[in-house]
Amino acid sequence: MKHNNLKLNTFLLAITTTFFCFTAHAEVDVDAAKALAKENGCFRCHGTDKDKDGPAWNKIAAKYAGDAKAQAKLLEHLASGKNVKFEDGHEEAHKILKTEDPKDGQNLVDFILSLK
Ligand code: HEC
Repeated sequence: MKHNNLKLNTFLLAITTTFFCFTAHAEVDVDAAKALAKENGCFRCHGTDKDKDGPAWNKIAAKYAGDAKAQAKLLEHLASGKNVKFEDGHEEAHKILKTEDPKDGQNLVDFILSLK
Protein backbone atom coordinates (compact mmCIF):
# COMPACT_ATOMS: atom_id res chain seq x y z
CA MET A 1 0.00 0.00 0.00
CA LYS A 2 2.71 2.49 1.06
CA HIS A 3 4.66 1.66 -2.04
CA ASN A 4 1.69 2.48 -4.27
CA ASN A 5 1.19 5.86 -2.63
CA LEU A 6 4.75 6.78 -3.34
CA LYS A 7 4.26 5.94 -6.97
CA LEU A 8 1.08 7.98 -7.07
CA ASN A 9 2.83 10.97 -5.51
CA THR A 10 5.64 10.81 -8.04
CA PHE A 11 3.08 10.64 -10.79
CA LEU A 12 1.17 13.69 -9.48
CA LEU A 13 4.41 15.64 -9.08
CA ALA A 14 5.29 14.89 -12.69
CA ILE A 15 1.91 16.16 -13.82
CA THR A 16 2.11 19.40 -11.84
CA THR A 17 5.63 20.04 -13.11
CA THR A 18 4.51 19.53 -16.69
CA PHE A 19 1.56 21.81 -16.12
CA PHE A 20 3.70 24.64 -14.76
CA CYS A 21 6.23 24.37 -17.56
CA PHE A 22 3.40 24.45 -20.04
CA THR A 23 1.73 27.55 -18.61
CA ALA A 24 5.05 29.38 -18.44
CA HIS A 25 5.52 28.90 -22.18
CA ALA A 26 1.89 29.54 -23.04
CA GLU A 27 2.17 33.23 -22.05
CA VAL A 28 2.52 34.39 -25.65
CA ASP A 29 -0.13 33.14 -28.03
CA VAL A 30 2.01 33.00 -31.17
CA ASP A 31 -0.82 32.10 -33.55
CA ALA A 32 -3.04 34.92 -32.29
CA ALA A 33 -0.15 37.41 -32.52
CA LYS A 34 0.67 36.43 -36.10
CA ALA A 35 -3.00 36.50 -37.11
CA LEU A 36 -3.43 39.99 -35.69
CA ALA A 37 -0.25 41.22 -37.40
CA LYS A 38 -1.48 39.76 -40.67
CA GLU A 39 -4.90 41.39 -40.34
CA ASN A 40 -3.21 44.74 -39.72
CA GLY A 41 -0.79 44.39 -42.63
CA CYS A 42 2.27 44.59 -40.36
CA PHE A 43 4.08 41.93 -42.38
CA ARG A 44 4.08 44.19 -45.42
CA CYS A 45 6.87 46.13 -43.74
CA HIS A 46 8.22 43.76 -41.08
CA GLY A 47 9.42 40.17 -41.05
CA THR A 48 9.86 38.32 -37.78
CA ASP A 49 13.54 37.92 -38.70
CA LYS A 50 13.81 39.78 -42.02
CA ASP A 51 14.05 43.49 -42.72
CA LYS A 52 11.54 44.81 -45.20
CA ASP A 53 10.68 48.51 -45.37
CA GLY A 54 10.70 48.34 -41.57
CA PRO A 55 13.19 46.59 -39.28
CA ALA A 56 12.89 42.85 -38.52
CA TRP A 57 11.02 42.32 -35.29
CA ASN A 58 13.79 40.23 -33.74
CA LYS A 59 16.06 43.30 -34.10
CA ILE A 60 13.47 45.37 -32.26
CA ALA A 61 13.41 42.70 -29.52
CA ALA A 62 17.22 42.91 -29.31
CA LYS A 63 17.10 46.72 -29.12
CA TYR A 64 14.67 46.58 -26.20
CA ALA A 65 16.26 43.63 -24.38
CA GLY A 66 16.44 44.38 -20.65
CA ASP A 67 14.22 47.48 -20.94
CA ALA A 68 11.53 47.07 -18.30
CA LYS A 69 9.35 49.61 -20.11
CA ALA A 70 9.65 47.91 -23.51
CA GLN A 71 6.06 46.66 -23.56
CA ALA A 72 4.64 50.08 -22.67
CA LYS A 73 6.88 51.84 -25.21
CA LEU A 74 5.87 49.56 -28.06
CA LEU A 75 2.18 49.77 -27.16
CA GLU A 76 2.54 53.55 -27.23
CA HIS A 77 4.33 53.32 -30.58
CA LEU A 78 1.50 51.24 -32.03
CA ALA A 79 -1.23 53.46 -30.64
CA SER A 80 0.20 56.88 -31.50
CA GLY A 81 0.96 56.63 -35.23
CA LYS A 82 4.02 58.84 -34.83
CA ASN A 83 6.26 59.46 -37.82
CA VAL A 84 8.90 56.83 -38.53
CA LYS A 85 11.90 57.02 -40.81
CA PHE A 86 12.22 54.62 -43.73
CA GLU A 87 15.45 53.26 -45.21
CA ASP A 88 15.25 55.72 -48.13
CA GLY A 89 15.02 58.61 -45.69
CA HIS A 90 11.38 59.57 -46.12
CA GLU A 91 9.13 59.78 -43.10
CA GLU A 92 5.53 58.77 -42.71
CA ALA A 93 3.05 58.13 -39.91
CA HIS A 94 3.41 54.58 -38.58
CA LYS A 95 0.47 52.24 -38.91
CA ILE A 96 -1.82 52.28 -35.87
CA LEU A 97 -2.63 48.82 -34.57
CA LYS A 98 -6.33 48.03 -34.48
CA THR A 99 -7.54 45.45 -31.97
CA GLU A 100 -10.87 44.51 -30.52
CA ASP A 101 -9.35 43.70 -27.15
CA PRO A 102 -6.32 45.59 -25.75
CA LYS A 103 -5.03 42.22 -24.50
CA ASP A 104 -4.51 41.17 -28.13
CA GLY A 105 -2.22 44.17 -28.67
CA GLN A 106 -0.24 43.26 -25.57
CA ASN A 107 0.05 39.71 -26.80
CA LEU A 108 1.42 40.94 -30.15
CA VAL A 109 3.95 43.21 -28.42
CA ASP A 110 5.01 40.36 -26.11
CA PHE A 111 5.40 38.16 -29.19
CA ILE A 112 7.60 40.79 -30.90
CA LEU A 113 9.72 41.18 -27.76
CA SER A 114 10.12 37.39 -27.42
CA LEU A 115 11.69 37.00 -30.88
CA LYS A 116 15.35 36.04 -31.12
C1 HEC B 1 4.41 51.00 -44.21
C2 HEC B 1 5.38 50.16 -43.51
C3 HEC B 1 5.07 49.70 -42.09
C4 HEC B 1 3.93 49.05 -41.63
C5 HEC B 1 2.69 48.67 -42.40
C6 HEC B 1 4.18 48.77 -40.23
N1 HEC B 1 5.41 49.23 -39.84
FE1 HEC B 1 6.23 49.06 -38.01
N2 HEC B 1 7.80 50.21 -38.58
C7 HEC B 1 8.03 50.66 -39.88
C8 HEC B 1 9.23 51.50 -39.87
C9 HEC B 1 9.83 52.17 -41.10
C10 HEC B 1 9.67 51.53 -38.53
C11 HEC B 1 10.75 52.38 -37.87
C12 HEC B 1 12.11 52.29 -38.17
C13 HEC B 1 12.89 53.20 -37.27
O1 HEC B 1 12.45 54.32 -36.97
O2 HEC B 1 13.95 52.76 -36.86
C14 HEC B 1 8.77 50.70 -37.76
C15 HEC B 1 8.92 50.44 -36.40
C16 HEC B 1 8.18 49.51 -35.71
C17 HEC B 1 8.46 49.08 -34.36
C18 HEC B 1 9.64 49.55 -33.49
C19 HEC B 1 9.37 50.81 -32.75
C20 HEC B 1 10.53 51.20 -31.92
O3 HEC B 1 10.32 51.87 -30.90
O4 HEC B 1 11.67 50.83 -32.23
C21 HEC B 1 7.51 48.15 -34.04
C22 HEC B 1 7.37 47.40 -32.73
C23 HEC B 1 6.63 48.03 -35.17
N3 HEC B 1 7.07 48.87 -36.17
C24 HEC B 1 5.54 47.19 -35.21
C25 HEC B 1 4.59 47.21 -36.23
C26 HEC B 1 3.31 46.55 -36.16
C27 HEC B 1 2.82 45.70 -34.99
C28 HEC B 1 2.67 46.82 -37.32
C29 HEC B 1 1.26 46.43 -37.72
C30 HEC B 1 0.20 47.06 -36.91
C31 HEC B 1 3.56 47.63 -38.13
N4 HEC B 1 4.71 47.86 -37.42
C32 HEC B 1 3.27 48.09 -39.40
C33 HEC B 1 7.25 50.39 -40.98
C34 HEC B 1 5.99 49.82 -40.94
